[in-house]
Amino acid sequence: MIYISHRCLGENYSFVGIFECDCGKTQQLLDGFLLFGWAFHPAVSKEIQSLSGSLFDFVKIIWKRSHHLSSDCEILRPLRGYYSHCEVSKVLSELVLQYPVYSLDNRLILSAGTALSDQVLEELILRAEDHPAYFLMQYGTVKKDLLRFLSEYPYHTIFHDLRQKNEMLRMMERVHLVLPVLRSLDYFKRYDHHTYRHMLMVFALSEMLAKELIPGYHAKEPETISSPTHDIGKTCVPLSILMKRTPLTKSEFHQLQHHTVAGYVLTSYYLKNSDHVAARVARDHHERKTGTGYPRGACEVDRIAEIVIVSDVYDALISPRPYRPVSYDNRTALEVITEMAEKGEVGWDIVKTLIAQNRIDKPKIDDFTVSTEKRGLHPEGNVHGLTVDDVKKKQRIVA
Ligand SMILES: [Fe+2]
Ligand SMILES: [Fe+2]
Repeated sequence: MIYISHRCLGENYSFVGIFECDCGKTQQLLDGFLLFGWAFHPAVSKEIQSLSGSLFDFVKIIWKRSHHLSSDCEILRPLRGYYSHCEVSKVLSELVLQYPVYSLDNRLILSAGTALSDQVLEELILRAEDHPAYFLMQYGTVKKDLLRFLSEYPYHTIFHDLRQKNEMLRMMERVHLVLPVLRSLDYFKRYDHHTYRHMLMVFALSEMLAKELIPGYHAKEPETISSPTHDIGKTCVPLSILMKRTPLTKSEFHQLQHHTVAGYVLTSYYLKNSDHVAARVARDHHERKTGTGYPRGACEVDRIAEIVIVSDVYDALISPRPYRPVSYDNRTALEVITEMAEKGEVGWDIVKTLIAQNRIDKPKIDDFTVSTEKRGLHPEGNVHGLTVDDVKKKQRIVA
């Protein structure tokens, strides 16, 4: 699937270019939504699935369909356009910062408006300082806190097998991180306990799922640091947004989503490697296989990122959060995640492994089928993912 992300460009629609057909029609293609919507049109999606050329080729197909042009009308001279000759992958990889990225000690790392080109990232890494690294599980009260969280509902079922739990803890104990990254945990522990707990639990859950799903995972050291750092970009999101109990404004919503790009910058900087899997996971952990996630709308991400995506959603559902009075019960949370797999947003094997781990007998994923019946009750008063405008729209419909 080829897609174009508009989200990295913030509230404004992305400028794609102005194109001209040989029958004289011209159109300015502005909107990621327009192209993206067409990408899911059944007739178009089949045609573009096999396409691996330039964005221009993609636009040609969409144009023909949307203007009902006959196939012999040879279209589309790009008159001008930023991306008209770029390779699609290039368009995807270039994210633009909508907000500045700061370190926890308030140093500006990159300003708003910076396009994250290879050159910008290389320069960023060149000016990164060296920092001492420490074992995460020996840092502060991390291990003690983690063990307490593991004993709480519903994690006490997932991690009830002592042998399995100890094996996972041994894996977690080899993870070491540089000090500024560890300090982000101190920051969340002090100011946003939900995110602190979430970072540790996504770490534990991802380790357990990765152990089941990625052959030889115990030897893949870079991957192991991806989950406890996945939300580090939230240090750049004002606490007033992170802790808000009511729907966010559109701009607050974009600022929250920006934690993925900020996390990519911070992990690239602190790990001195923008191609480090932990940097990619910080960037990609809100993507969906259908291309409906953010910040890039990427359909393909690292395997460990896919695992973090499932762990991230699951923990967010079953944990206390400021934006809803009560958490999801475990069954409903698993139903929500099953629905994501049904829609093709996340992989079935990861969802099935999570469900298997929720059962006392821990069946093999090939030995059971997942019920797609939805019986769970979603908690009342949940404003997650809703903006003030969405709520007004809903109220108008009800009235
Ligand atoms: Fe996140
Ligand atoms: Fe998260």
